[in-house]
Amino acid sequence: MNELKMKKLLSLLCFVMIYNLSFAQESETITLPAPDTEKGLPLMKAFSVRASVREWSSQKLSGQDLSNLLWAANGINRADGRKTAPSAQNAQDVDIWVFMPEGIYFYNAVKHALDLVAKGNYMDLPGKTDAPVNLVLTTDISKFKGGSDSLRLGWGNIDTGIVSQNISLFCAGTGLKTRPRAMFPDTDKIREILKLRNTQIIILNHPVGYEKK
Ligand SMILES: Cc1cc2nc3c(=O)[nH]c(=O)nc-3n(C[C@H](O)[C@H](O)[C@H](O)COP(=O)(O)O)c2cc1C
Repeated sequence: MNELKMKKLLSLLCFVMIYNLSFAQESETITLPAPDTEKGLPLMKAFSVRASVREWSSQKLSGQDLSNLLWAANGINRADGRKTAPSAQNAQDVDIWVFMPEGIYFYNAVKHALDLVAKGNYMDLPGKTDAPVNLVLTTDISKFKGGSDSLRLGWGNIDTGIVSQNISLFCAGTGLKTRPRAMFPDTDKIREILKLRNTQIIILNHPVGYEKK
């Protein structure tokens, strides 16, 4: 092969590699549709039907379901970047990790999108469930200014509890089912896969899906 042909081949190879890389990066973020804020039961009716379940049907959540669920849980609801869930010092310390059979995603509230964290089925890691989605909630106590570690952990637990209640009430109001769960079989493995820092604490998980008939 002469030098010119070699150069052409190399530039074609570079183009293909760069194209594939940018495509892979794009496909690793799933942009969610805008949340439907008209949906759901009146609030008092949602309170009257809220209940935890242990079984779910295999029906998957639609993209719109996921968008509504995550926005209700801890999405941005005001132009100044504040959220549907209050947080101590507006620290916005709670993160949502979305476990689905195809992989684990981070809920990026600013972009209202899912950022891929790990491909593959890790559904059993936060505890067995037949729900199609499991939301793992963490607090990052480094986001609080001042206070002892135990005080910050207390605030982090409260903030996570509020996000948890948003999830439960959203589900009650929209026909989805959930259960808050504090027991995890192995948090070390989850920490490793999510690459959590020492200040990020795993607090709860919430399987979410449709009712098993
Ligand atoms: C902080 C917290 C932790 C919980 N942890 C678990 C758990 O690890 N496993 C479980 O099956 N249920 C767990 N639950 C669900 C409770 O058992 C359930 O909320 C309780 O039985 C009352 O039922 P209800 O939610 O239908 O009113 C937890 C609930 C809360 C609020």
